[in-house]
Amino acid sequence: MVKIIYVEHNGARHEVNVPDGENLMEGALQNNVPGIDGDCGGNAACATCHCYIPEQWEALTGTRSEQEDAMIELADTAKPNSRLACQIKASAALDGLEIHMPATQH
Ligand code: FES
Repeated sequence: MVKIIYVEHNGARHEVNVPDGENLMEGALQNNVPGIDGDCGGNAACATCHCYIPEQWEALTGTRSEQEDAMIELADTAKPNSRLACQIKASAALDGLEIHMPATQH
């Protein structure tokens, strides 16, 4: 299990354990974390799992695919550190990762 901390725009924190290898959108849904809907089922096609990655974790969470990039560009709330939670898999290296949600997701 990998400890992931989901932080809502209002500061509410949800610390949950996500199975190794599971994506962070699924991890949120399985643990009833509000603010991540996962409408497309994890196919990088809806951006309802949009989140921001703190700078110190960016290198460990990898880079966006072309598809992910295209979806994020459509989001009004996009920032340089935007990612889609469905495109990040939990792993031991991410234990303690905090991901932050945009104000539009609550
Ligand atoms: Fe649709 Fe992540 S669940 S983009």
